[in-house]
Amino acid sequence: MSDKIFFITGIDTNIGKTFVSLLLLLALNQRGLNAGYMKPVETGVEINKDDSKNYLDGSYVKKYGGLKEELNIITPYAFQLPLSPYAASKREGRTLCIKEILFKFYELNKVYDYIIVEGAGGMLVPLKKKHFMIDIAKYIDAGVILVTKAGLGMINQTLLNIEYAKSRDIKISGIIINNVLNENDESMSSNKKTLGEFTDIPIIGDIPYISDKKQLENINILNDFALKYIDLEKILV
Ligand SMILES: Nc1ncnc2c1ncn2[C@@H]1O[C@H](COP(=O)(O)OP(=O)(O)OP(=O)(O)O)[C@@H](O)[C@H]1O
Ligand SMILES: [Mg+2]
Repeated sequence: MSDKIFFITGIDTNIGKTFVSLLLLLALNQRGLNAGYMKPVETGVEINKDDSKNYLDGSYVKKYGGLKEELNIITPYAFQLPLSPYAASKREGRTLCIKEILFKFYELNKVYDYIIVEGAGGMLVPLKKKHFMIDIAKYIDAGVILVTKAGLGMINQTLLNIEYAKSRDIKISGIIINNVLNENDESMSSNKKTLGEFTDIPIIGDIPYISDKKQLENINILNDFALKYIDLEKILV
């Protein structure tokens, strides 16, 4: 497994993979490390009036991560329908080619020393027949970063993901707890510690709910968040 390639997955869609990808990128950049980002497949991408595509994840990370690549390089496959890549590609009549994704990845990997690849949804989101999202992590030999929720149910969800990865011989390099759901229950004071008792995988981040959304679009604050909430030491060798 490469220790410079990270695949960001999550226990669910909308759990904060893009936000975490950006923070990781900013944390690496602030250390002077040359890091890039790719979101190989995005669904639910609207087409603008001028026929351009409204990539959401790629444009957020490109904007605040200062990426130079065009959005169609960052995201080679965009589908309009907000479905799994498998279902969207079938409905839109466009075949998704994994070799093409890998080719684009290797092109980016020539430019960057570190690369962060964001999945769509979670590990077992169908990509195409007999292929799942997490297969990409395996093909590119990435260390997986698992983004999980903070409140009640997180131990079960996190351990299920870990067990599945183990069964496929996929290495999870780190876990990031992200309170994207603004949960606030009794379990939250002990979840991190309890999770640590059931897995040896390092918890490399514990991000609170950020109520002031303007902070998510302020590069100085984002750089501070990256330093404050991401513990790179635990994943860099
Ligand atoms: N800790 C947080 N506090 C507040 N808002 C957050 C937090 N983390 C993420 N968000 C916001 O929650 C939304 C979902 O996050 P994000 O887009 O990163 O999820 P995702 O897992 O990448 O989703 P997808 O599966 O669509 O790629 C975004 O609007 C993001 O800005
Ligand atoms: Mg995302």
